[in-house]
Amino acid sequence: MAGWDGERYAEVATLQHELGRRFADALTPVAGSGGRAARVVDAGCGDGVVTRMIAALPWVGDVLGFDPSPLMVEKAGAGNPGVSFEAGDVTTFVATSPFDLAVSLNALHWVPDSAAALAQLRDALRPGGRLVAQFVSEGARPSLEDVAQQVATGPAWGRYFSGVEAPHVHRTAEEWRALAAGAGLAVSGAEVSDLAWDFGSAEAFEAWCTVGFTAWTERLPAEAHGSFVREVTGEYASVVGSHRVLRFQQLRLEAGRG
Ligand SMILES: C[S@@+](CC[C@H](N)C(=O)[O-])C[C@H]1O[C@@H](n2cnc3c(N)ncnc32)[C@H](O)[C@@H]1O
Repeated sequence: MAGWDGERYAEVATLQHELGRRFADALTPVAGSGGRAARVVDAGCGDGVVTRMIAALPWVGDVLGFDPSPLMVEKAGAGNPGVSFEAGDVTTFVATSPFDLAVSLNALHWVPDSAAALAQLRDALRPGGRLVAQFVSEGARPSLEDVAQQVATGPAWGRYFSGVEAPHVHRTAEEWRALAAGAGLAVSGAEVSDLAWDFGSAEAFEAWCTVGFTAWTERLPAEAHGSFVREVTGEYASVVGSHRVLRFQQLRLEAGRG
């Protein structure tokens, strides 16, 4: 499991927070049970910034964010009234009482066992509750994570990754639809957007990658992290034609528990 560093994440997460703002703005109100505001769970909440954006929506009541990274949960800190954070893994998460809405932003592509993640999120919902999850999906071009894995298993670094599975998973919209249906969810949308983000400089892009690449760099000596990241961004530049631009697919999966 990638041990994401909440302090360092918060310093470079302008892209994720902008995606979070758009994600929260696009949420359709969900009714809470018994006329109450909606109870929401945020799986893979990271530094909690997006969780708080969702908590600020007028139709949202209590929100729980969870994340397996202790440093992310620490950074998310104590919630405002109605917002709480705890350690948790989406493949084993069990709700103490059912939620009206489960959300997850850019976490599920870091969870190889997608079926387990979807099953736990379904079980966390009340009947009629909704899941809205957005994450990186499979696209026509190699993703940044694909390039990182290719570099990790190549000649310079392969000895550190022998027998190690890729930490990320990118599936097509059709594969996600089928997995969600298999988990007992009724899929109402699986829309893919092809997005780009210009970090402004190669250094800023490398700093962002350094924070997000812990699944790979935690296997390397600390003094090698910079070279690994630079090799990946160098290879990736030949995919997108720039040393400072990220191009990525975002799949927004919407489903309901019957
Ligand atoms: C790119 S960050 C996104 C954080 C936040 N949702 C946001 O949009 O700013 C990915 C997060 O997924 C979390 N993550 C990785 N594996 C997970 C798992 N099995 N269950 C829940 N979260 C996971 C990581 O710890 C990390 O905080």
